[in-house]
Amino acid sequence: MRTKILLKEADLPTHWYNVAADMPNPPAPPLGPDGNPVGPDALSAIFPEALIEQEMSAERWIKIPDPVREAIDMWRPSPLFRAHRLEAALGTPARIYYKNEAVSPAGSHKPNTALAQAWYNQQEGVHRLATETGAGQWGSSLALAGQLFGIDVRVYMVKISYQQKPYRRSMMETWGAEVFASPTDMTEAGRGVLAEHPDSPGSLGIAISEAVEEAASRDDTNYALGSVLNHVLLHQTVIGLEVKKQLALVDDYPDEVHAPCGGGSNFGGVAFPFFADKAAGKDIRLVAVEPASCPTLTKGAYAYDFGDSVGLTPLMKMHTLGHEFVPPGIHAGGLRYHGDSPLVSQLHHEGLIDAVAIPQLETFEAGVLFSRTEGIIPAPESCHAIASAICSARQCVETGESKAILFNLSGHGHFDMAAYDRYFKGELHDYAFPEEELKASLGHLPRVG
Ligand SMILES: Cc1ncc(COP(=O)(O)O)c(C=O)c1O
Repeated sequence: MRTKILLKEADLPTHWYNVAADMPNPPAPPLGPDGNPVGPDALSAIFPEALIEQEMSAERWIKIPDPVREAIDMWRPSPLFRAHRLEAALGTPARIYYKNEAVSPAGSHKPNTALAQAWYNQQEGVHRLATETGAGQWGSSLALAGQLFGIDVRVYMVKISYQQKPYRRSMMETWGAEVFASPTDMTEAGRGVLAEHPDSPGSLGIAISEAVEEAASRDDTNYALGSVLNHVLLHQTVIGLEVKKQLALVDDYPDEVHAPCGGGSNFGGVAFPFFADKAAGKDIRLVAVEPASCPTLTKGAYAYDFGDSVGLTPLMKMHTLGHEFVPPGIHAGGLRYHGDSPLVSQLHHEGLIDAVAIPQLETFEAGVLFSRTEGIIPAPESCHAIASAICSARQCVETGESKAILFNLSGHGHFDMAAYDRYFKGELHDYAFPEEELKASLGHLPRVG
């Protein structure tokens, strides 16, 4: 029985897949402060033209530039695994597959877009980028990309993650980036938050405000985002495109695809290429998995909202808990975001993809079972997809169905061992979902129209 399903370097996809081409309704446009759709000009202060074009494109296939393909082949194509040992431990008739994105230098899927974004910026003469990071996976990826393409990188890292994961900071610094614990006193956005909440643990929304403010206020600096935006999800579709080729080698096809969902980029990356088949009539379930304490898709409103906490970004139509919502300090730092990708949100709103929310302890339980059977210690974010896939595989035990269940192992947890320690000591708990805070935060959604 095959365990690893591998592709050759020549099999690396030549084009990214743009889901906008197959959506039944065109993506809702981002809006400016006047309530009108923003044009490319409004974005050009912080993004290179090529990425703005991709953001608004409806072309189904977009060519991957040769230098980007040659850079991501440092670790791509990534392996697809059949999880025989996990299947045996569960006693399930299901066939479980996982795509291993932990093999990248930074340890997750994030470099797939970081290298592309850095290259496009370099091509347009930009040599300084500001960004945010939650868990540190994105900041590390952009730090590496900056190093490869000659770009200085400045990272606003969510304070609670900065404290929980000191070695992620070391990693970013090793690749030459500067890292600050957000909220900082270096930006107006950060100072505003600190004035009201001196002990703020930070959030992705706050760190985005700081990085956007820096990029918008300096001619020499652009902004790079690690998720949410259409072009980021586009760059991640190499994941699902490779999986399709890999499953064809073993003559299989998934009934279900599970992926952790923070801003939506690894979910979009693995699931969108399968959405193309779903749009053509194929029966396949695409499941975005989020934390019960930050349940954007399952409990958020579908509304126009800011992508950051302070309100510097255009308004995006998305599932949101409100831009003022500061999620509890769970260890899956990459899933602590108040909003979600507009593409993922629209597909969920239209009933074309599914979402589930899972409490923290269940995700660690799944991560430990996975570590003890398959050997790889997963990132806390990835544990969400594992928990959801295990839940389906256990249902197969009841029903006797032999479903093919695919999940995306979006990253390894080697920098998250403090979280595992706390789990083993019984110090982790499930956060009660803060209904009252959500109500208050949704009361402050911006008015549109
Ligand atoms: C390992 C890992 N998985 C998943 C995510 C969630 O982000 P996204 O939804 O953009 O894939 C992150 C974000 O930092 C991450 O680091």
